[in-house]
Amino acid sequence: MRRKLLFGNWKMNKTRLEAAEFANQGEYLLQLAKKADIDIGVAPTFLSLDVIKHTCPALRLAAQNVHYASKGAFTGEISIPMLQEIGISTVIIGHSERRQYFAETNLTCQKKIDALLENNMCPLYCVGETLDEFEHSITKDVIHEQISVGLANVKPADANKLIIAYEPVWSIGTGKNASKEIAQDICHYIRSLLKDKYGDIADEIQILYGGSVKPENVHDYLLMPDVDGALIGGASLSVDSFRQLIENVH
Ligand code: PGA
Repeated sequence: MRRKLLFGNWKMNKTRLEAAEFANQGEYLLQLAKKADIDIGVAPTFLSLDVIKHTCPALRLAAQNVHYASKGAFTGEISIPMLQEIGISTVIIGHSERRQYFAETNLTCQKKIDALLENNMCPLYCVGETLDEFEHSITKDVIHEQISVGLANVKPADANKLIIAYEPVWSIGTGKNASKEIAQDICHYIRSLLKDKYGDIADEIQILYGGSVKPENVHDYLLMPDVDGALIGGASLSVDSFRQLIENVH
C-alpha cells in the first residue's frame, strides 16, 4: 500500500533563520501528518538542510539538486558525499526550473539518478511537458522520453527507491492547475511505463503531482488512484498553509 506524501519544494526561498522558524513548528506539522496518516517533507536550499535537520530531526528532507561526480572541478556544485555527510538521502532531480534555466537534460538527470542509486539514495525525479508540448498533444511522448532516458540504467532492485513527480511546466507557479483527470491520466501512464520496466514493483513507487497545488485543491488530486501525493512550491512555504494542506488531504 503506497503512503500519501506531501513534499514542499522551497526553491530559492528562505534564509537559514527563516528555515529554522519553520522547523520550530515542524514537530507540530508532523503530529498533524501522523493523525492524517500521511508523510511530509521539505526541500530547502542546501544551506538550510542542516538547520532543519538539527531543529526538527524527524522531518524528511530533500536537496533540490546534486552533481553526479563525487568531487572535482565543478565550481558551484554540491556532491553526493557532501549531502551524505549531513544525513541527506533524498534529492530532487530534473525539476523543470533546472531543465529550463540550468540546461539540465534527460541525460544529466540519468547520470544523477545513477549516482544517487549507487550510493543507496532516493531520487525524486521530476517529469512534465511544457505548455507548447501540451498544446501539441505530445505530453505522453515527452514523458516517455523523460522516463526512458532518465531511468535507463535503473535496475528493478533499485526501482522502489524512486519517487516520481509529474509536474506539467505550464502549471508551476502559474495558478493554472492541470485538472485532476489530467493528473490521474499522466500519473497512470507513468505507472504503466514503470510496470513495463519493473513489473509489480511499479505498484510500490510513489508518483506525486505538482503544479499550483494549494490547500483548496490538494484533496481532489490525492483522491485519484495513481496520485500518491504532491510536490508543492508556493503553498508549502508558510507553516499555516502547510498545516491546511495536511488537514485538507482527507
Ligand atoms: P508551485 O510549484 O506549487 O508553486 O506551482 C511546484 C513545483 O515547482 O514543484
